Amino acid sequence: ILGAGGLALFIVLLCVNAFAMGMAPPSNMEMIDPTKVSETPPFDNPGLKKISDTEYDAYMTAFAFGFNPNKMEVPAGAKVNFHVTSPDVVHGFQIPGTNVNFMVMPGHINSASYTFEKPGEYLILCNEYCGAGHQVMATTIIVK
Ligand code: CUA
Repeated sequence: ILGAGGLALFIVLLCVNAFAMGMAPPSNMEMIDPTKVSETPPFDNPGLKKISDTEYDAYMTAFAFGFNPNKMEVPAGAKVNFHVTSPDVVHGFQIPGTNVNFMVMPGHINSASYTFEKPGEYLILCNEYCGAGHQVMATTIIVK
């Protein structure tokens, strides 16, 4: 009875949060049709777009099981604005050693910026379990 009651309470609270309190991904988050990610600019041509010598936009897709583009290179001191979406399931986007760490939801465009002061090879990995290939889902950004 306690177990079933706890479960019922959990489901009721979940429904109150979702429907009565409207808890969902932020409504100011840009959205696209997840089934058309590969046809929707700028995600039809993912990669770095140079804004200035010290700032770049990085349009990326996180998919089962990898990131597109697979490798990027920016000069040291560059600020990179990551814009990431997913065509399939929920993924994570984390750059260990930095404060970049967010969820990537299908059709939602999530963003974060980071200034890479130190040269090196930075790992980008998925930290949300997304299926059988989750553990191989990673890429790098090279800072020179
Ligand atoms: Cu994508 Cu784990």
